[in-house]
Amino acid sequence: MHVAALEWLTFGLARAVTAAVERGLTLHLLTSDRTEYAFGLRRSAPGSLVIHDVDTSDPTCVAKELRAIDGLAGLISTTDVCSLVSLEVAAELGLAAQPSDAVRLVRDKGALRRYLYMMGLSRASQVTVDPFAADVLAATGMLTYPAVLKDASGTGSEGVWIAQGPDDVPGILDAARTGRLRGGVLTAEPYFSGPLYSAETLSWDGETRLLGISSRLLSPLPHFREEGEAFPVAFPEPQAAELAGWISSVLNGIAYRGFSHTEFIITDDGYEIVEINPRLGGGMIGELICDAYETNIYEAFFDMALGRRPALLDAPLVAVRGMAEVDLMADRTGVFDGFDGEDRLAGHPGSPRLCSARSHGETVDSLTDWRGSLGSIVAEGPTAELAMHNAAAAARLVRPRVI
Ligand SMILES: Nc1ncnc2c1ncn2[C@@H]1O[C@H](COP(=O)(O)OP(=O)(O)OP(=O)(O)O)[C@@H](O)[C@H]1O
Ligand SMILES: [Mg+2]
Repeated sequence: MHVAALEWLTFGLARAVTAAVERGLTLHLLTSDRTEYAFGLRRSAPGSLVIHDVDTSDPTCVAKELRAIDGLAGLISTTDVCSLVSLEVAAELGLAAQPSDAVRLVRDKGALRRYLYMMGLSRASQVTVDPFAADVLAATGMLTYPAVLKDASGTGSEGVWIAQGPDDVPGILDAARTGRLRGGVLTAEPYFSGPLYSAETLSWDGETRLLGISSRLLSPLPHFREEGEAFPVAFPEPQAAELAGWISSVLNGIAYRGFSHTEFIITDDGYEIVEINPRLGGGMIGELICDAYETNIYEAFFDMALGRRPALLDAPLVAVRGMAEVDLMADRTGVFDGFDGEDRLAGHPGSPRLCSARSHGETVDSLTDWRGSLGSIVAEGPTAELAMHNAAAAARLVRPRVI
């Protein structure tokens, strides 16, 4: 039997191939740019992955490519960017898919904020701001400051701005007009002050399992670049149980199904959802979860693609270790030329390893969002907290070269 994936996360492809092989499945990866998976491809079992080069933003091309795969039984979607194409194509081909209404709701951050506010799950609603509209500056009077203005369908922390007051808004609108706005408009909402976390969950038929919570290190304002994360964060009781109950009720309330990566901030006035990603966490998160639990969680993608209740919902999950990742950031734009200092990692506590997110010669064109991250140092420890200290110490030893 064959299962196809529409793109993949930056990491985790090798484990997905292993999960497919163990089930006697062949995995087909449809991708617009196979160089993005260089790291995973080098580590994948040979001969068990078929790569199709196709424009994955075009549902017609994707459907045509999939129809040509004999015995195709399922389709996996792991990215924000392909989530809507995937829904459309799955419906056309009669394949199992995530619930369309829930995915469409969470991919529109303005609609999600309005929904959360209406349900009493957020303290504020939002204002939609079209940076190209003639009377756009009228919006500045409707915002409460500090405000976040962000691409209504953004990803990778591209197109996220903070306005401390109305004077900041014209500059933000200028930047939005010249940048790439996936959602076409901005959604504005209050800036929620506090540490950012994400809940990594799996939902099926009205049931949600919290796999664990990841912490996040962010760049200094005004940017929101993610620079590190650790898993699983140990919250004390009764907060741990409260968080699990809260996130389950939010996801079950929108009839969500599949992996989700829900970012939230713990403010002085309670939990505030930042966004719900209809997928497993990006970057290294899937890998950190697998390593912490010594479990290949990617197997659940195949269960769900075949329309089956994922076994991961019932699997015993005991953290064998904590895991953490610290990003290696470019200090200038230019051309990526590799890393210095990898040899210094040998013998460092936490068994740190270098995971490159880029290929040699790739252009580094932005420093302020995910594109500034060239790779990661991943390390372990007895807890997430100690793993983070090991990763942060080890990351100091390695420097990306950008020329
Ligand atoms: N209302 C808010 N208050 C405080 N911080 C916010 C708010 N909205 C967004 N952020 C910050 O900006 C970051 C990016 O916003 P968001 O997660 O909505 O965009 P994204 O581009 O989808 O992110 P990702 O990198 O997860 O794909 C968040 O991780 C958070 O740090
Ligand atoms: Mg986000």
